[in-house]
Amino acid sequence: MERLDKRLASTGRWSRKEIKDMVRQGRIQINGVPARRPEEKVGDEDRLAVDGQEVDCAPFIYVMMHKPAGILSATEDKRQRTVVDLLPPELRRRGLFPVGRLDKDTTGLLLLTDDGALAHELLSPKKHVDKVYLARVEGRIDASDVAVLGEGMVLGDGLHCLPAGLEPLKDGSECLVTLREGKYHQVKRMLAARGKPVLALKRLSMGTLQLDETLAPGQWRYLEMDEVAKLREERTPT
Ligand code: URA
Repeated sequence: MERLDKRLASTGRWSRKEIKDMVRQGRIQINGVPARRPEEKVGDEDRLAVDGQEVDCAPFIYVMMHKPAGILSATEDKRQRTVVDLLPPELRRRGLFPVGRLDKDTTGLLLLTDDGALAHELLSPKKHVDKVYLARVEGRIDASDVAVLGEGMVLGDGLHCLPAGLEPLKDGSECLVTLREGKYHQVKRMLAARGKPVLALKRLSMGTLQLDETLAPGQWRYLEMDEVAKLREERTPT
């Protein structure tokens, strides 16, 4: 058993002070009954709700962000703003970090969590978690580009890339690129090596997790419970 305020604060969504205020305002329920005091003791089987919405008190937090351009995928930086700076103070205190990096000018899906084990597994090429990117390129993607990326390219500096999916869109000026790994500037380097430099890049998905297009660049939301469950299943190699 632990204190109600401690358990709710451990989700990173509210400070202890906010929880105290919410208890006073009658906004917190334990098993459907309004909580009376922040110190009240709760156990694992107790259902906690805020404003009638059940709260997941799982030990880890998972956040989906629509990363905007111009922001670093890092936890902190002396000079530049990072994706973690876009989160509220309670989440910054929890020590969330981005799962893999997107370049400063890349936009789209970024998962942030404090679950190090899951993050590690999602990034491992052995786990076959596909990441899908939408790229706008100079020139036109053609069948030879599709074949070469599909075979697994070796870049000029000797970097071996695993076979990657490439699907031209529109007139070939845009394409979907599917990677199982995340080497530095990988999409940009692969397409540049084909003479089709990337003009804009956006990540659309990571395994089963799709960018929620209702999120504007810079916005974020908590993952739904079923989104987390599917990511966990994804850890098993196929
Ligand atoms: N590949 C890139 O080149 N940049 C990214 O940000 C992600 C994948």
